[in-house]
Amino acid sequence: MSDSLVAVVDLDLPGPTISRHVYGHFAEHLGRCIYGGFYVGEDSDLPHEGGIRLDVVEALRAVAIPNLRWPGGCFADDYHWRDGIGPREDRPRMVNSHWGDVVEDNSFGTHEFMHLCELLGADPYVSGNIGSGTVREMSEWVEYLTRGDDSPMASLRRSNGRDNPWRVPFWGLGNEAWGCGGSMRAEHFADLARQYATYVRNHGDNTVYKIAAGANGDDYAWTETLMKSLSCLGCSREPQSYFQGLSIHYYTMTGTWGVSKGSATEFDVEEYYVAMRRAHRMREIVAGHAAVMDCYDPKRRVGLVVDEWGTWWDVEPGTNPGFLYQQNTLRDALVASVHFDAFHDHADRVVMANIAQTVNVLQAMILTDPDSGALVLTPTYHVFEMNVGHHDAASLAVRVKGDVPTREVEGAQLPLLSASASTKDDTALISVSNLDAEEPRTVVLDLRGRDVTASSARVLTAATLQTHNTPEAPDAVAPVAHDGLRPHALGLELDLPAHSYVTVSLELG
Ligand code: AHR
Repeated sequence: MSDSLVAVVDLDLPGPTISRHVYGHFAEHLGRCIYGGFYVGEDSDLPHEGGIRLDVVEALRAVAIPNLRWPGGCFADDYHWRDGIGPREDRPRMVNSHWGDVVEDNSFGTHEFMHLCELLGADPYVSGNIGSGTVREMSEWVEYLTRGDDSPMASLRRSNGRDNPWRVPFWGLGNEAWGCGGSMRAEHFADLARQYATYVRNHGDNTVYKIAAGANGDDYAWTETLMKSLSCLGCSREPQSYFQGLSIHYYTMTGTWGVSKGSATEFDVEEYYVAMRRAHRMREIVAGHAAVMDCYDPKRRVGLVVDEWGTWWDVEPGTNPGFLYQQNTLRDALVASVHFDAFHDHADRVVMANIAQTVNVLQAMILTDPDSGALVLTPTYHVFEMNVGHHDAASLAVRVKGDVPTREVEGAQLPLLSASASTKDDTALISVSNLDAEEPRTVVLDLRGRDVTASSARVLTAATLQTHNTPEAPDAVAPVAHDGLRPHALGLELDLPAHSYVTVSLELG
């Protein structure tokens, strides 16, 4: 056992609020995410409402899912919303050319998505088509969804059975415009984003927060071009006039894009550390984009939206390569906890994030068996559940005294401890990940500024890094009460098992 580290938390110095929307989700028409995941159809034997699987809804309500991005991803820039309204038997079909080249029957469309959001209690984040759609098409979709009077689109919605307009707070202007969303140069897309945004109107009391498709990973030049397109020297326009959010996408993998991304379950300790290092890159990438944005928007009116993040492994053997179905181990949970620490620490700029993707695709919360229908909550799900207390809480800085232990990985120093904290309503939540694959560690929490009247801890770990949940062993990785928390002269002393994620809940006097 190594010497104790001391982590100082000033409980009386709240920082920027951590938006609950950084715990957002993403559901694309891809593999078994929508069809067979969320949506099992009206004829299913599984408990459902209007074809929407209710145990999936219940599991996501338990983590207070704040928003859901849909219908893509790459699919969004191929999607024509009018194909997904009206009687199902009359809906045209299309080819989902990005994901498995399968035929999409459009049985899950706008009304089904809005119903899903209502069941979840989540805010809809609709991703509009710039790559192959028209300005008129996007403008009419917003009108269809959100307008209350007898306008042409509101009337069309009524004829399809929905009287009242919905509330749609978040709108995506394209997706990965540099790639599957149209292979554009940043300059061209910046103009298109401004143009399309002009016609995404606020109807009635619905106000849309518009998010322009952003950079791939550390492509800071893309962000700079988009931010520059918002600025206007010598005029009174604020930078957020056209769009209010700018996205980035970054995925964690251990291999190489286009070759092999690495196995979800078969990896050694060295590869585990590569995953942690690459997950840790998110912190650097967010900081890099935030620095560029600061130059053009020092008042931080434009939000950074990480609307795709998570692990991307090779598909499970025997599954459709275009469906992106992968297992989810304790390693994935630690990737998630590291990301959330980065988002919390950048709460002044990161306003939303969406893990890819919620069910049966990439770093999923929920996996369902295509034959039996059995539902499994993944280790990643449990990190979301353990972190609910951070939603809309004020961030607190965690300052580690002395040197955080590190390990050299791919020429960089990977910190083996990751932590963040927040406070809300006379409570505080401290998150600590011990990324050391083999060594346990003890941390003294030096808690300053408020009295702590009660404390408790939970731990998420497993015998091995590769442990995952299955229908036969659904709780192989699940949080339990942690008895490694003791009073200490400075506050509390916390034992961290090797490769573990621990949350400490405090009641404050
Ligand atoms: O999440 C899977 C895909 O990854 C999305 O469709 C696309 O935006 C990204 O490349």
